[in-house]
Amino acid sequence: MNILLLGSGGREHAIAYKLTQSAHCEHLYIAPGNAGTAAHGTNVALDINNFSAIGEFAINNNIAMMVVGPEAPLVGGITDFFRNSPTLRNIMVLGPDREGAQLEGSKAYAKQFMQQYGIPTARYRSFTADTLEQGYAFLDTLTPPYVLKADGLAAGKGVLIINDLDEAKSELRNMLVDAKFGNASSKVVIEEYLTGIEMSAFAITDGKSYKMLPEAKDYKRIFDGDKGPNTGGMGSVSPVCFADQTFKDKVEQRIVQPTIRGLQERGIDYHGFIFFGLMAVPDHETGQYDPYVIEYNVRMGDPETESVFPRLLSDVAELLRAACTGELDKQQLLIDPHTAACVMMVAGGYPDHYDKGDIIYGIENVSNSLIFHAGTKRDGQGHYVTNGGRVICVTSLAPSLPEALLESYQSAAHIQWRGKFQRRDIGQDLLRLMVQ
Ligand code: AMP
Ligand code: GLY
Repeated sequence: MNILLLGSGGREHAIAYKLTQSAHCEHLYIAPGNAGTAAHGTNVALDINNFSAIGEFAINNNIAMMVVGPEAPLVGGITDFFRNSPTLRNIMVLGPDREGAQLEGSKAYAKQFMQQYGIPTARYRSFTADTLEQGYAFLDTLTPPYVLKADGLAAGKGVLIINDLDEAKSELRNMLVDAKFGNASSKVVIEEYLTGIEMSAFAITDGKSYKMLPEAKDYKRIFDGDKGPNTGGMGSVSPVCFADQTFKDKVEQRIVQPTIRGLQERGIDYHGFIFFGLMAVPDHETGQYDPYVIEYNVRMGDPETESVFPRLLSDVAELLRAACTGELDKQQLLIDPHTAACVMMVAGGYPDHYDKGDIIYGIENVSNSLIFHAGTKRDGQGHYVTNGGRVICVTSLAPSLPEALLESYQSAAHIQWRGKFQRRDIGQDLLRLMVQ
């Protein structure tokens, strides 16, 4: 079958890499893709939010399955657009419809969903400009730090964690009354702060059954020690050492299964990935961790995909097709027991101002790691050049986390451009936990 993959990040390069290992993938198109995805198929200059142009391309190129990488087209209703069109409805779409995508598109929707189906999450309430005073009163009942979340998509910036009560109140006002995050903050979720270790769990579902993909941990802030501003993600590792079988069973029983039941009860025919952003909260009496949901995403994570997908030994095109057609229960998912470690290299200045167009050297000198491009393109002379904040990541698979990290850092050292930056401490927190 011909497959169309939407997106242009490291996540899409890793998905493209696995899809094209499948005998079921005849031709892969990536829209818009990057310089790395071009090695796996044909990049197509389409706007991922222009549904009619995507539909026209899909028909003209005999696309059998479309895989949606990022959330924006899903929240915008691309799946409904295909299902409701007489000419597009036979094309399989991996990714939920607009209502299913509300799990990511609206924090208030997600929180209400979790509350209704008894899924462990931080205690919360949501407020609008009309209920600002009640919002202040709710903040008075909480202890710091205070967690304020813009309801809608805010490019990963819509969550504020504030220690001071007066500042929290004034930020609540900024969000609700002064539209700090535009429309996205016309509603705000205020919730209890959870203390623990963050990690990511992933399921793929056909709406009836599901398969768990390997879990991962990502590193969100720009500087070592998890300092500085939030980024799209500076690296990832999979598996996560403290997520033992007991913990994973809790995740499935307390979170994944009730989520699928909730989707069914609401009549949401969900075909796609569910990404559970979790806080593993230690129970000081038992020494075990309990999982709480911090957020849902309706897609794979980036850069988690770059360490999760290389560990999938099964045919990924076949797996995704089965999720589209409702035959996931017939699939067997084989996982590589090796540890994957991914180090993201970013442009100097990211996540604030950074340059584009710098020539990237040394990619050809990497032999022991996988290279996934994020913000890259080719210039007129055929050089790879930077074209985004997150530029390239390297992923290594090895029998242990220290070995995988060593390989990735050695590979990363071969790749250079003006201003290149990377964290030096990916995975170090887990290594410290392992020796405890
Ligand atoms: P989100 O966009 O919902 O993933 O939130 C961004 C980040 O804020 C998360 O990755 C967490 O680090 C942090 N965060 C969100 N909610 C909470 C919470 N209830 N308790 C502690 N940290 C949180
Ligand atoms: N790595 C976090 C995300 O993809 O949202």
